[in-house]
Amino acid sequence: MTPSPIVERAGSHSSLAITHIGELVTWDDDQPIRRDAGLVIEDGRVAWVGPSADTPSADDAIDADGRAVVPGFVDSHTHLVFAGDRAEEFAARMAGQRYEAGGIRTTVAATLAASEDELLRLARRRLAEARAQGTTTIEIKSGYGLDVATEERLLRIASELTPETTYLGAHVVPDGWDADAYVDLVTGDMLAACAPHARWVDAFCETGAFDADQTRTVLEAGMAAGLQARVHANQLGFGPGVQVACEVGAAAADHCTYLTDADVAALADSGVVAGLLPGVEFSTRHPYPDARRLLDAGVRIALATDCNPGTSYTSSMPFCIALAVREMGLTPTEALFAATQGGAWSPRRDDVGHLRPGARADLALLDAPSHVHLAYRPGVPLVSRVLVAEV
Ligand code: NIG
Ligand code: FE
Repeated sequence: MTPSPIVERAGSHSSLAITHIGELVTWDDDQPIRRDAGLVIEDGRVAWVGPSADTPSADDAIDADGRAVVPGFVDSHTHLVFAGDRAEEFAARMAGQRYEAGGIRTTVAATLAASEDELLRLARRRLAEARAQGTTTIEIKSGYGLDVATEERLLRIASELTPETTYLGAHVVPDGWDADAYVDLVTGDMLAACAPHARWVDAFCETGAFDADQTRTVLEAGMAAGLQARVHANQLGFGPGVQVACEVGAAAADHCTYLTDADVAALADSGVVAGLLPGVEFSTRHPYPDARRLLDAGVRIALATDCNPGTSYTSSMPFCIALAVREMGLTPTEALFAATQGGAWSPRRDDVGHLRPGARADLALLDAPSHVHLAYRPGVPLVSRVLVAEV
């Protein structure tokens, strides 16, 4: 007998009933978490949710045997397309060295030296790794090219893997360039080449990368070209990134590690999603963002991996959930919500991140009786089966 693959396409079943779900997380308003539940999928969508005993019959069936089922994770921030790694830089940091944004250029050099086939192969492998850990929707940025042809190539590769592609030409100023001249390129020829392959525009607003005016210029040019904005904000120190994100109506301000009270208030008032990326704090030894402070202020939060070779080389949403619970003041349920429904808010998606009828049938079966085990059993591969509406 061939073992069933961990990741399979929900749409390959015309209809599928899952019964005896010990705990089903749907995020439905009335009953967000059900016990002893059933779920029916038709044509890649959730068609029915209810008590296990009442589950309508379907062409195919899975007996969950008391396991938990959760919405597939929505990883709303990754840099999946790159070559090389920076393990030595990580080791040096663990020995006390500080993270510098300039390390990005090391990955740019390795990425420029790789062929398109090699970059696609590497990105596919990382995507498969993420999927096997329950990620069913993923955002992927460019940003390791920093010239017109390479940024365009990275976005073409990303768009083979996901519709949530982000143009991050404004990742760092390349060696030998004047910052304003580079912003002209990012908002000119590079944008023209990249916009057809991107849904989002992003900029790294930080000392050592781009200042508030440059960030605003990049985001506004992207928006004028039909892209929607998201920002790398307040990662390495206090700064203007969050305020710029709120001013331009960005979907998300990601990192949010160093926030003033005014930043928190601006996020709450604007509805801009705060993307929290605890793999970065793990890997740079910066302090973790205070998710409890954000939730208490009414800010919408998303949890994501930021998978990249410099500051967070993990593709594991369960790892990020465990960190968020242990280090950022979230309960296991709040962390799962931020990794699914919160993740979906970030790219403004309403078809993923939950399992209410009509949702895409993107879900993960856990080899555990409840979602709490995602944080309670850190580092244990609990995701035993993943259904993705479209692979
Ligand atoms: O999200 N902050 C900017 N970009 C990445 C780091 C990239 C790198 O160091 O290669 C991040 O942390
Ligand atoms: Fe990032």
